[in-house]
Amino acid sequence: MSHVMTTLLTGASGGIGLEMSRLLAARGHRLVLASRSAQKLEDLAAHLRRDYGVEAHGCAIDLSERGAAERLFDFTQTLNLPIDALVNNAGCGMLEEHVHADPEILRHMLQLNVVTLAELCRLYGAQMKQRRSGMILNVASTAAYQPAPYFAAYGASKSFVLNLSEALAKELEDFGVRVSCLSPGPTDTGFFDGFDPQRTAGGHFLAMKRRSSVQAVAEAGVQLMFGGGLSQVVGFRNQAMIFANRFAPRALVAAVSKSLLRPRDVEMRHPLFDENAEDKNV
Ligand SMILES: NC(=O)c1ccc[n+]([C@@H]2O[C@H](COP(=O)([O-])OP(=O)(O)OC[C@H]3O[C@@H](n4cnc5c(N)ncnc54)[C@H](OP(=O)(O)O)[C@@H]3O)[C@@H](O)[C@H]2O)c1
Repeated sequence: MSHVMTTLLTGASGGIGLEMSRLLAARGHRLVLASRSAQKLEDLAAHLRRDYGVEAHGCAIDLSERGAAERLFDFTQTLNLPIDALVNNAGCGMLEEHVHADPEILRHMLQLNVVTLAELCRLYGAQMKQRRSGMILNVASTAAYQPAPYFAAYGASKSFVLNLSEALAKELEDFGVRVSCLSPGPTDTGFFDGFDPQRTAGGHFLAMKRRSSVQAVAEAGVQLMFGGGLSQVVGFRNQAMIFANRFAPRALVAAVSKSLLRPRDVEMRHPLFDENAEDKNV
């Protein structure tokens, strides 16, 4: 009897993760689905069992809490299912001047995007290394490839994901474990809920019609994972932009990035230097 692969997928209840869960189920994977929304996970697991005939388990967990990686690991241990593939997809972002970011939201984002992801890679990567087989797919972003003013900590968190993934891929390649990193550009998911692209100076770059379809991104992720590539940027336009970035001075890239991402309501200059400021004698 052929081995049924078990995949642990974080951020499965919506967006890219939801679409990936269907693609993996279509390949016959047994799935462990993790995110915060218990009901959504239950409904998704039922849908995957019914429509794809696969085993599916939900784990409602807030991965932005300390110790969440260990709790998720313990959950899969109690299921007694060795995880063949780990997809670290859950993530969130914030558009804000870094110095005015809500400290609680900032901590949660970094814990989710950086700390939990690194811990899950460590916990499951160790098991995979011991078994001499396994796959890890981490979801970064095109924001990983250059400084992203006003998305500063989000972009930096995704640079961490990209660098960690590529380094880990090299550490584990001799042990039969493949690590890959997917970098989507703006994609049509709930990620942008409550966020008006027109608030940014280069809003057209983030506008709905410029976003990749969630299906295309999920398919690219699954293909990358099974193809064993190191890292991939999704979409020709995004690839071209990142390729061009390599040849430009970092200062120029940062300046262009700022001009595109700057929220229109952000004060640009100190009143001392602002010709229109009423009182320059601050
Ligand atoms: N959409 C884009 O434009 C874009 C571009 C580049 C990269 N990405 C990356 O792609 C990944 C997936 O994003 P998406 O676009 O699919 O976003 P999404 O539609 O907002 O989905 C995010 C998923 O992560 C889960 N999640 C969020 N916070 C969580 C937490 N604290 N604990 C556990 N699960 C949590 C959400 O489920 P619950 O709310 O149920 O917890 C949901 O399933 C993220 O890493 C994101 O940074 C997205």
